[in-house]
Amino acid sequence: MNNETKKKVLVLLGSPRKKGNSTILAQEIAKGAESVGAVVETLYINGMDIKACQGCWTCQEEGSKGCPIDDDMQTIYHKLIEADSWVIASPVHWFNMSTQTKLWLDRCFALKQYGENPFQKKIGIAMTFGDTDPFTSGCINAIRSFQDSFRYVGAKIAGIVYGSALNAGDISRNTDLLKTAKELGKKLGKY
Ligand SMILES: Cc1cc2nc3c(=O)[nH]c(=O)nc-3n(C[C@H](O)[C@H](O)[C@H](O)COP(=O)(O)O)c2cc1C
Repeated sequence: MNNETKKKVLVLLGSPRKKGNSTILAQEIAKGAESVGAVVETLYINGMDIKACQGCWTCQEEGSKGCPIDDDMQTIYHKLIEADSWVIASPVHWFNMSTQTKLWLDRCFALKQYGENPFQKKIGIAMTFGDTDPFTSGCINAIRSFQDSFRYVGAKIAGIVYGSALNAGDISRNTDLLKTAKELGKKLGKY
């Protein structure tokens, strides 16, 4: 199989910690996708220039050329469109997704310019939190935000993996969760 026919999986790392827990989960998803032949590209969005949506609604106008903000999202839009699957990895920060992830999510509003439904992708979500409970941690709150956002644009979430881990690397001890993450990767890579 050449690269043209392989499925493309785009991984967005939404934690500021480069070797953090949500990144480890995302890496397991990536391994799973690669094991079934997919090509994976990973973006560390904390290191990218992604400005906040300015609410100008230009992207929603008839014949719009998209978001007028000239930053790294312009490159990311193209990568999102080219990919078959997306993986969004985020820590819980203050009972919701990280700010880095939310900046990206808000700017996805402008994807509308790319055809009928640019959100027809297989979407995987990976989240980690410091609390022991997914509800009190705010993880479920974040997941609900993703579910509402993707439902609004007609996108389907293929799978969600999440687990408790406070210090960077702690999630590696949760071997069952890592296995589940890898299985999700296989699902995303096979489509
Ligand atoms: C600014 C900040 C806010 C946090 N807020 C929460 C929170 O609301 N609930 C929670 O359970 N953990 C919270 N945590 C802990 C992280 O979710 C946890 O350490 C997670 O595993 C970090 O993932 P990462 O290593 O991928 O960054 C917070 C951590 C930071 C740095």
